[in-house]
Amino acid sequence: MKKKTFIFYLTSLIISSIYLFGCNNTSKNIKKTTMSDNSAQIALPKPEGFEKIIDGKQTHYFNLKNKNGVQASFTNYGAHLVGLLIPDKSGKLIDVVVGFNDIDGYKKTLSAYYGATVGRYGNRIANGKFKLEGKSYTLFINNKPNTLHGGKKGFNDVVWDAKQINNNEVQFTYLSKDLEEGYPGNLNCTVTYELTEDNAVKISYEATTDKTTVINLTNHSYFNLNGIGSGNILNHIVQIKAANFTPVDENLIPTGEIKPVVGTSFDFLLPTEIGKRIDEKNEQILFGKGYDHNFVLDKHEINQPIATIVGDISGIKMEIFTSEPGIQFYSGNFMNGANEEIGGQKDLNRSAFAMETQHFPDSPNKPQFPTTVLKPGEVYKSLTIYRFKSN
Ligand code: GLA
Repeated sequence: MKKKTFIFYLTSLIISSIYLFGCNNTSKNIKKTTMSDNSAQIALPKPEGFEKIIDGKQTHYFNLKNKNGVQASFTNYGAHLVGLLIPDKSGKLIDVVVGFNDIDGYKKTLSAYYGATVGRYGNRIANGKFKLEGKSYTLFINNKPNTLHGGKKGFNDVVWDAKQINNNEVQFTYLSKDLEEGYPGNLNCTVTYELTEDNAVKISYEATTDKTTVINLTNHSYFNLNGIGSGNILNHIVQIKAANFTPVDENLIPTGEIKPVVGTSFDFLLPTEIGKRIDEKNEQILFGKGYDHNFVLDKHEINQPIATIVGDISGIKMEIFTSEPGIQFYSGNFMNGANEEIGGQKDLNRSAFAMETQHFPDSPNKPQFPTTVLKPGEVYKSLTIYRFKSN
C-alpha cells in the first residue's frame, strides 16, 4: 500500500473509533436534549466533578450498583443523591433524578435543594422563630418572611464525613454544632443510603443531641419517572394515602388546621394525574403556585407504601415507604429553566417533582402537630424508602 493511502486508511480508522467508542462515553456532555425531544437521559455524572476541597474538607463521588444494573450515585457534599438509573418498561436504564455534572452545579442551585439532604429542619419555620423550654431561638430568614430547609447554610451545603460501608451502602455523618444556624445543641447526624436488590433506595437517618432541640430531616430529590429531560411531569399518575392535608397561608406556613382532601385539588386517594387540577383557581393552589403542600399520611406501617407515582411513558412506578407522619408534594413550581442538568437539558418548570417525607412544616410553633423535639439521651430515627418497579 502506498504511504498516502495508508495514512488515509489509518486516519479513517481513528476517526471511526473515536465516533464509535468516544461518543458513547462522552454523550452526556455533548447531547443537548430539549423538552420536545422527549428522550430521557441515561447519563450519570463523572466522579471527577465531585473531587474537591470545600470548607477545608474533601468531597467525593460514590456509586452503588445492584445485580439488576440499577445505579445510584451520591456525594458527601450535602449528602446528595446525584443520579439514579432505573430500567423502564423496555429494560432501558434511564436517569430518574435531576442532577448536575459537578459540585459547581449544586452550588449554583442551592436554593432548589436538588437531591439534597435537608436539615436541621426541613421545610419552613414561621418568621424564623420558635420557643423551646422557655427560651426563644432566632433563625436565618432565607425565604421571606420564614426560614426554609435549614437556613443560610443548611445540611445541603456542608461537607459530611463519608464511609462506604459495602457495595450497597454509603454512610454520611455530620456534627452540627450548638447554635449553628441558630439551633440549640450539638447534633450528631448520620444518613445511610442503601441500594437494595429489589431496586429501592433506602434512606435511614439517625441523630442525637446534647441539648433539647428540634429536628426534621428529609431528602429533596426531584424525580421525573419518564427520565430527566423527557418533558414535564404533568401526566405522571400520583396516589397519596392521605385523607388530610395541612392548608397554608400565602407564605406557605400551615394555618394549623388539618383539612380533609375530599372534594379539593389535593385528593390523591385514588391514582390521579398531577396535571389534572394543578392550575385550579383556588386559594391553596394559588399560594403554592401548584402543589407545594404537606399531606398528613394516614396511619401506616413502614411496609405499606404511602404514595405511588407512575411515569406515563416509561411505566416506571415509584413506591414510597416512610416512618414519617407527613410528605411535602412539591410539583417543581419554582423550576425556571435557568440551570443545565446532567445531559445538557434545562431544569424547566415542572419537569420534576419532589416527595419530601417529613414532620409537618412549622411544627416547633404548632403544638397540635406531631412533635419535632429531640432531647439529650433520645435517638432520632427516620426511614424512607423509594422503591422502583418497571411494568
Ligand atoms: C420545598 C419548598 C418549596 C421550594 C422548594 C425548593 O419543596 O416547599 O417551596 O422552596 O423546596 O425550591
